[in-house]
Amino acid sequence: MKKSRLLSRILFGLMVLCLLGYGQAAAPKPAEAPKPEMKPSDLVTHGPWLTYPDPGELTIGFTTVPGCGAGVEYREVGTEQWKQAWHTEAGQIFRHRTARSIRLTGLKKNGEYEYRLILFVPRDAKYHEGNFPKLDKGHKTKQTVLVENPDFRFKAFTDTADPFTFSVTADLQFSRNVKHGILRSYYDKCGLKDSKFFAVIGDGHNDIGSMENSYIGTVIDGLQPIGGASRPALFIRGNHEWRGGEASLWTEYFPAPKTRSTYFTFQCGDTFFIVLDSGEDKAATTLTYHYTGDNIDDQAFREEQRVWLAKVVESPEFKSAKWRIAMCHSAIYSHPEAYMYNHLAHICQDLFKKDKPENRIHLWLSGHTHVYSRTIPGTDQIYRPGNYRQVYGGKDYDFTVLTVEGPGGVGDINNCLVNVTVDKDKISVEARTPENALMDAFEIKNDGTVVDLNNDTLPMKKTPANYK
Ligand SMILES: [Fe+2]
Repeated sequence: MKKSRLLSRILFGLMVLCLLGYGQAAAPKPAEAPKPEMKPSDLVTHGPWLTYPDPGELTIGFTTVPGCGAGVEYREVGTEQWKQAWHTEAGQIFRHRTARSIRLTGLKKNGEYEYRLILFVPRDAKYHEGNFPKLDKGHKTKQTVLVENPDFRFKAFTDTADPFTFSVTADLQFSRNVKHGILRSYYDKCGLKDSKFFAVIGDGHNDIGSMENSYIGTVIDGLQPIGGASRPALFIRGNHEWRGGEASLWTEYFPAPKTRSTYFTFQCGDTFFIVLDSGEDKAATTLTYHYTGDNIDDQAFREEQRVWLAKVVESPEFKSAKWRIAMCHSAIYSHPEAYMYNHLAHICQDLFKKDKPENRIHLWLSGHTHVYSRTIPGTDQIYRPGNYRQVYGGKDYDFTVLTVEGPGGVGDINNCLVNVTVDKDKISVEARTPENALMDAFEIKNDGTVVDLNNDTLPMKKTPANYK
């Protein structure tokens, strides 16, 4: 290149730089938006919620903004020293994505605990690629914040035979505000406030288009102001939780501790609980855009549950339990839904039929039909509001299947709360509308005998308006 040409290029470049510099100097400086002081609690976007209780164990879940590590500090009330448990993956704090699920083990049975959330929020770049600086004074400062709240406390479960009450519902396919209102009513009026734990037995939302907006943002956010940070809750998958673009994230937000899946067992006192996943209510149209298009392995999944359940009924915990309660979105019998019924028939085989009294179940709690009903054990008969009809398959089973009310059910009753009290010699069950009208009450003895506590011999024949 000739010298003159090179010189002209350098001069042009200097002019451009001067213009840019002039422009920068001349342009008015944009007013800097004030940076609001971010509180540690702003980093927690939902929760915390307590789930998967077991004697001496519990999972604390919550969601955070991405980029921070998350853990829990906990201690028995009245003690000084905090213990820590972090969300880790293969030995490292997990700082990606947003779902946090922290299992606490080794808790004192019946012990009262308080906890707080601890977040690792790196304020400085960790290091540049390939540059690993030596430890200096600055590196010794822990970059953590605490999120504390007086509601962050719980009582650990025990396996001793203390009486307890738990509450269940299902089919909460309402708008966010209506759902929150129903949950609030259950807490204020219907006994949820005094329950040891709460279970949503499927269809907590219509679909999981976004896990944090649709399910967590409505169900868990609704529980938050009514003791959600201190009362364990079980979030059980129904057919509607199989639907939606983020449905397959379920186990990232709610990983069951032993199975890492959607079916699990747990104990409370001398009661053994089995939770099953009855799947989608329609056969999969795999690899299509249909909402069942992802369910390519649902048949393998039910076989997986069958193998697991066959082992569960052989376990010492199941065999020695005084009471056994199953929770599943669908019923093992009495529901007309063919696909889920077949699903459960495969999972359960003959394990719970009445010719196997050693596996006696005392109560099966379900949802899905949206119509409150209660089977009469050992018969093909069922109580349900407004009528009294026959079901099929009931003669094979000697335990009650209770199905909760749902939207569009009978009359203007759109949901119900079922309170179950496990006592020394009986299980007492009552169903209440969101307005706290008693819909049904009965007791179950240890030998499976059911005592109807309603005044009428066929109380479900009354119209909903007549419920006391
Ligand atoms: Fe359902």
